[in-house]
Formats: sequence, C-alpha cells, structure tokens
Amino acid sequence: MAYFLKEMKGARCLVLGGLGFIGSNTAHRLASLGADVTVADACLDPYGWNFANVKEIREKIDFVKADVRDKAAMEAAVEGMDCVFNCAGQVSHLDSMTDPFLDLDINCRGALVVLEACRRKAENAKIVYAGTRAQMGALRKTPGDEEQADNPADIYGADKWAAEKYHLIYNSAYGLRATSLRINNTYGERHQMKHARYGILNWFVRLALEGKEIQVFGDGSQARDYNYVADVADAMVLAAQKGEADGKYYLLGSGKETRFLDMVKAVIAAAGSGSYRLVPWPPDRKAIEVGDFFVSYEKIRRELGWEPATPLERGLKSTVEFYRERRTEYW
Ligand SMILES: NC(=O)c1ccc[n+]([C@@H]2O[C@H](COP(=O)([O-])OP(=O)(O)OC[C@H]3O[C@@H](n4cnc5c(N)ncnc54)[C@H](O)[C@@H]3O)[C@@H](O)[C@H]2O)c1
Repeated sequence: MAYFLKEMKGARCLVLGGLGFIGSNTAHRLASLGADVTVADACLDPYGWNFANVKEIREKIDFVKADVRDKAAMEAAVEGMDCVFNCAGQVSHLDSMTDPFLDLDINCRGALVVLEACRRKAENAKIVYAGTRAQMGALRKTPGDEEQADNPADIYGADKWAAEKYHLIYNSAYGLRATSLRINNTYGERHQMKHARYGILNWFVRLALEGKEIQVFGDGSQARDYNYVADVADAMVLAAQKGEADGKYYLLGSGKETRFLDMVKAVIAAAGSGSYRLVPWPPDRKAIEVGDFFVSYEKIRRELGWEPATPLERGLKSTVEFYRERRTEYW
C-alpha cells in the first residue's frame, strides 16, 4: 500500500449520509483512526440507510437525523467540524430519469445547502464530496481519465457533475477546502440488499446466496471497473488529510477492466451458488447504458498515493461472508 492514513484523534468529523454504504464505511475508518465521528442521515427510502451499518461503532459515534436540504439542520451539524464528508444522495440512475426533480433537489440543492452551511459556520473545515463515475458518461477513450470531457448520460450524472463543480467553485471563490472523488462501481459490506435499483453487484451477491438466477442484460461483454468499499473509504479519508487534494477531483478505479459477465461469474463462484441467464436489455436501462467503462487512477496515485488494495476475488470473499452471517440485518 503506497499511502498511510494518519491518526485523527480529536478531529471532529461529520459524515452526511453516514448510515448508508459509502458513508458508514467511511465512518468506520474514521472511528478506527480515533476521530470524533458524527453521523447524519435523513433515513430516506429507498436508500441504503441502516443502523446495522454502524452497529460496531454505535457507542463511539453521535447520530443526528438531518436532511442535507435543511439549512438550519446543516448549519447546526457542520458547526465546529474539522472535516465534512458528503455521502448523502439520491443514488439511483433510473430514478433520476423518472423523478428528475427529486434528484435535482437532493443532489444539487442539498450539496449547495451543505456548502453554504460550511461557508457560514465551518469555514476551516475540509469537505470531501462523494462524486461519481456517472459524471463522465460514455468514455471517448479507455481507460478514462480526468482529462476527458464529461458527458453524463443521465440526470443523476448531470446533477452530481454540477454538485462537484459547486465544491470546486467554493474552494476557488471562498477558500473553502473541498475535494471530490469520482467513485466507481463499489461493492462490499453495508450496502442495501433489498432492491436492484442501484449497486447491482451487491444485489447479485444476494441472488447468488439465495441460489437464484441472475439476469444479465445483452451479452454482458461491457467492461466495468469495481472497487472494494474499504479502499474507497480509505480514499475519502486520505482526501481529507491531504492538502494537495484541495480544489481538485480524482477518479477512483481498480486498474483492471472486468467484463460484466465475468463479474457475475465471480459472484457466483464466491457464493458457491446461483446461476445466470442472458436476457435482452430493458429499454429504460439501455437508454442510459454507457458501454465499456474503466479508468486510470493514476492522478490520485501520483498526487495522494492512493491505490486500491483489494482484488475483486478477495473483496467478494469478504462481502459474501459478511452477508451470509448478517443476512437478517440486510434482507
Ligand atoms: N456505491 C457506489 O457504487 C457509488 C458510486 C459512485 C458514487 N457514489 C456516491 O456515494 C454517495 C453514497 O452512496 P451510497 O452507495 O452509499 O448510497 P446509499 O443509499 O447506501 O447511501 C446514501 C445515504 O444518503 C442518505 N440520504 C439520501 N438523501 C438524503 C438527504 N436528503 N439528506 C440526508 N441524507 C440523505 C440515505 O438515507 C442513505 O443512508 C452518493 O452520493 C453516491 O452518488 C456511490
């Protein structure tokens, strides 16, 4: 591992969306480094909030139920914080197309409310934004990198793109230190396992563990890039610790292009059960499909030293073990 995370004893950290997948894993990492962690979440369905996600650290953290769109709640939450991790969001690509105003409200207005709250009440805090690969849309060349023009294919990607820009503008115009990580397809412990609206690899883990059939759209030959969630949580914390990251955005990736169908086969192998079948693309999914997507993580490796530590097979093994043991908390 090329990077080293510093102890954070006494550092006051707020994790927005901290009961969800990326947020709770980030909260775990911060707690392990000794930070004083506050988790804030609006507990909105159908998103991934789950108190089981913070079960092991519940005694060490504070929890506040708060919505990122609520100005007074955000001002109260950010006051006195050293770091703010914004992992709260509307996260479904499909839902952003059927309910674009909800996506706009949470992903754009919500991000601005948080930034304004920081500008007014926590001007010295470092903000790390959970951006997404979806901001880029279809790649013009593979592997993708930060130099390519962005061309989001859905409302979710466009709104997250705008939210990332807000962060960079608050950094340049107001000196509010902010970094955005464009998170790739992430899998692992503490994801919602109740529906297939987003986080499809995790959903397949459930189907495989239940011995069910996984439907693969088309021929499954499209390339994807999968990161294990502990590596992503490390990147979030590293971005907070590194001053060089201020005012910048970085792509996360695995350094490995994986065909969708090979991912499905790896899930079935890790679970030791399940099967798959090729089916035609549903039109709503086909309309926002971007084709081969994998990226270079060279910029974050070069500037911050981050590298993904967990290969797919090893990450899947831990993931399968986790849900096998804690099925009743997630199904
Ligand atoms: N999981 C991935 O593969 C992935 C990939 C790219 C980007 N991201 C980004 O990471 C962030 C977290 O995603 P996730 O995968 O952890 O999803 P998740 O559904 O597990 O977590 C999102 C959390 O945000 C909370 N939330 C939603 N709206 C809120 C609001 N208005 N106010 C406060 N809390 C609210 C939900 O209750 C939930 O706990 C999102 O911004 C998403 O765009 C995730």
